[in-house]
Amino acid sequence: MQSVKQQTELGAVTTDRKNILGIVGSPRRGANTETLVDSVLEGAAEGGATATKVILQEMTIAPCRACNYCQKNGKCVHDDDMESLFELMKKSDIWVLGTPIYWWGPSAQFKAFIDRWYGVNPTIFQGKQVILTIPMGGGNDHYARHTVGMFKDICNYLGMICVEIIVAPGMNGKTSVRESSQLRETARAAGIRVMNEK
Ligand SMILES: Cc1cc2nc3c(=O)[nH]c(=O)nc-3n(C[C@H](O)[C@H](O)[C@H](O)COP(=O)(O)O)c2cc1C
Repeated sequence: MQSVKQQTELGAVTTDRKNILGIVGSPRRGANTETLVDSVLEGAAEGGATATKVILQEMTIAPCRACNYCQKNGKCVHDDDMESLFELMKKSDIWVLGTPIYWWGPSAQFKAFIDRWYGVNPTIFQGKQVILTIPMGGGNDHYARHTVGMFKDICNYLGMICVEIIVAPGMNGKTSVRESSQLRETARAAGIRVMNEK
């Protein structure tokens, strides 16, 4: 489940059903971000999707060097897991992205992942349906405002369809989302809804 290579070898991505890809940006396995992403995937799977999940922390994704090698050569100077992740993203109809809030922004793993979007052919993003899930320790949505704003701007810039952003304040414990059936249901319902889009 951890590496994209394993995922694709397992043949998780199919062509006859809608493919939904969960991308988890928290370094903590089984914690709030992953539980939110899982719940969306669960709803989509109920609606007939084939679900796949990757954990950024368990992949090698080097930070962008701003060397512009990609602009001249059409590929990134880093030879790491990002290339196979892009392949998986290309084959997926819907992306469910998840990041915890760290200092009002996304996690380092998630930011490194997003920065690498700079070096790829932008057609991969155009018209892609995206759901973003964001847990945070703070008690209200305000803590996520920069990350939400950043993400909406990226969606507009790259032509992605931001279907839904699920913001979960007050998630202080590692299992806070797991303990909230209401929150898990909200995320699951988003997964069901996205299957009825288009
Ligand atoms: C380094 C770090 C910085 C954090 N900064 C914030 C913050 O600025 N605002 C906030 O509301 N929560 C903050 N948190 C709390 C996390 O967003 C929260 O615990 C979240 O549920 C973690 O997600 P996870 O369980 O998937 O790891 C921070 C946590 C860490 C580890």
